[in-house]
Amino acid sequence: MKILVAGKGGTGKTTVSALLSHFFCSSGHDVLALDTDSTPNLAMSIGVSPDISKSIVPLVKNEDLVEERTGARPGESWGVFFNLSPEVEDIVEKYGIKIKDKLSLLVVGSIDSAKQGCLCPAIALARSLLKHILLKNDQIVIVDAEAGAEVFGRGLAEDFDYMLCMSEPTLRSLEISKNLIRMADELGIRNNVLVVNKVVDEERAIRLVKRVVPGVRSFFVGYDPEMSSYEEEGLSVERYPKNSPVVVGVRRMFDLLFGR
Ligand SMILES: Nc1ncnc2c1ncn2[C@@H]1O[C@H](COP(=O)(O)OP(=O)(O)OP(=O)(O)O)[C@@H](O)[C@H]1O
Ligand SMILES: [Mg+2]
Repeated sequence: MKILVAGKGGTGKTTVSALLSHFFCSSGHDVLALDTDSTPNLAMSIGVSPDISKSIVPLVKNEDLVEERTGARPGESWGVFFNLSPEVEDIVEKYGIKIKDKLSLLVVGSIDSAKQGCLCPAIALARSLLKHILLKNDQIVIVDAEAGAEVFGRGLAEDFDYMLCMSEPTLRSLEISKNLIRMADELGIRNNVLVVNKVVDEERAIRLVKRVVPGVRSFFVGYDPEMSSYEEEGLSVERYPKNSPVVVGVRRMFDLLFGR
């Protein structure tokens, strides 16, 4: 199963991706978490030590790897021929970071070709990798996406079984989510779920959701005032207190959506 965690910037994509990865893993699944953000920070949340997190080079920024697989170095002048379908079979094994027995993280980096030139070798590598990984059915793949709608414009989102659209409980944020959900629907993602995060007044949030995005399956995750201290302490989501509104809310969603 492939799950895309998308949404506006700062809405909780990374936090939810990390928590879901651990929940799936502890319920016996083989999980691969992919960070495709341009400023990847899933590593810290998922449980890679701060020192190692800082030293991770996203695949698309690994110039030697990109050159080895595509035949061209990132940034080389236009007109250079390169392999558009590079070999990626061994990449998860070689570059994946093992968090625990059945949980690995792969930091891909941004697949936003608008920023890098649409036919750049690094993007060819990232696309080929995502395509390959998405064909595997025996594991759970969770993708922490770049903020915004970019992910829907790159032909990368079609293969997902679920899109969790992260939002904040404000009119503006929900309007953006409505748009993202429409795009995901159009791409044929069957299960598009709204996750309203940082909720202080749940009744009010429910009313707003009914008004702005009626008819969409929605979950509500409470605001945790301690989140910034967890971050300052460099805690992975596994070490958040079990009664944190974030842990409780995401767990409830996990059980309802994916619990058997
Ligand atoms: N339920 C919550 N209560 C309080 N703070 C939260 C909650 N969820 C997330 N946060 C905080 O909001 C900030 C953004 O969260 P996170 O990094 O998970 O979002 P994101 O969507 O991945 O952001 P970006 O778009 O920058 O990648 C973080 O500082 C995080 O600690
Ligand atoms: Mg993030």
